[in-house]
Amino acid sequence: MPLVIVTGANRGIGLELARQYAADGWQVVATCRDTAKPGGLTDLANVEIQPLAVDSAAAIADFAASMKGRPVDLLINNAGIMGPDLSRQSKDGIDVAGWLETMRVNALSPILMTLALKENLVPGAKVATLSSQLGSLTENGSGGMYAYRASKAAVNMGIRSLAADLLEQGIILLALHPGWVQTDMGGPQAPVRIPDSVAGLRQVIAAAGPTDSGSFIAFDGRRIPW
Ligand SMILES: NC(=O)c1ccc[n+]([C@@H]2O[C@H](COP(=O)([O-])OP(=O)(O)OC[C@H]3O[C@@H](n4cnc5c(N)ncnc54)[C@H](OP(=O)(O)O)[C@@H]3O)[C@@H](O)[C@H]2O)c1
Repeated sequence: MPLVIVTGANRGIGLELARQYAADGWQVVATCRDTAKPGGLTDLANVEIQPLAVDSAAAIADFAASMKGRPVDLLINNAGIMGPDLSRQSKDGIDVAGWLETMRVNALSPILMTLALKENLVPGAKVATLSSQLGSLTENGSGGMYAYRASKAAVNMGIRSLAADLLEQGIILLALHPGWVQTDMGGPQAPVRIPDSVAGLRQVIAAAGPTDSGSFIAFDGRRIPW
C-alpha cells in the first residue's frame, strides 16, 4: 500500500486530499497543527493523524523522527496561509512580521519538510507542493497580495533547486496550482469545488514522470509560466 503524507489536512484542500487518497486505498498520514482540533479528519477511517505545525523547524524535525524507517511514496506540502490582511501586504502598507510568517509557512516549510523526509522518499517518489498561480511573475498583471505572491514565487524557486538536486535520487518535485477553490482561503465565490480541484491534482501527480520534475502545473494540467 503506497504511503502519502499530507500537511494541513484538517480542512480545505488538505482534508480532501486525505479523503480521496484513503478512499483509493493509500496509507495516509494526515498532519494538522493541533491534533485536539482535527476538523474533518475525525470522519475519515484509515487515516493516521499526526501533529505538525509547519512553521516550526523543531516540529518538522520531530515529525521526521517519528517517520524514521517508513518508506514514503508521496509527500504533499499543502499547509499554507494567505498572510496578513490584504491591505497590509499592499502599496498602502506592509505588515513586516506577517510577511515573514507567510514566507516561513508557504516558502520555507515545504523545503524543510522535503529535506527532513529525504531518506524516507523511495526512488520514484513524488513531492507535490501547493503553490499558486498568484506566484507566477509572468501572470501577475494585477498587483497586490505582495507577501502571498512572494512566498509562492519563493517556494517555486526552492522546488526548482530541489528538483535538480534530487534528480539522482529519482525524486519528482512538482509545484501545483489547485485552481481558485471554494475553501476558507479561496472563499465561497471561487469557481472550483474542492473535490474537483483535488481529483485534478491527483491526476496531475499520478501522471508526472521524471521529465516533469521541477514543473509548475495547474489542477487541470495546464503548464503555468514562472
Ligand atoms: N483555495 C485556493 O483558491 C488556493 C489557490 C491557490 C493555492 N492554494 C494553496 O493551497 C493550499 C491549501 O489551501 P486551502 O485553500 O485548503 O487553505 P485553507 O482552507 O485556509 O486551509 C489551510 C490549511 O493549512 C493549515 N496551516 C496553515 N498554517 C499552518 C501551520 N503553521 N502549520 C500547520 N498547518 C497550517 C491550516 O491549519 P489550521 O486549520 O490549523 O489553520 C489548514 O489545514 C495552500 O498552500 C494555499 O496557498 C489555495
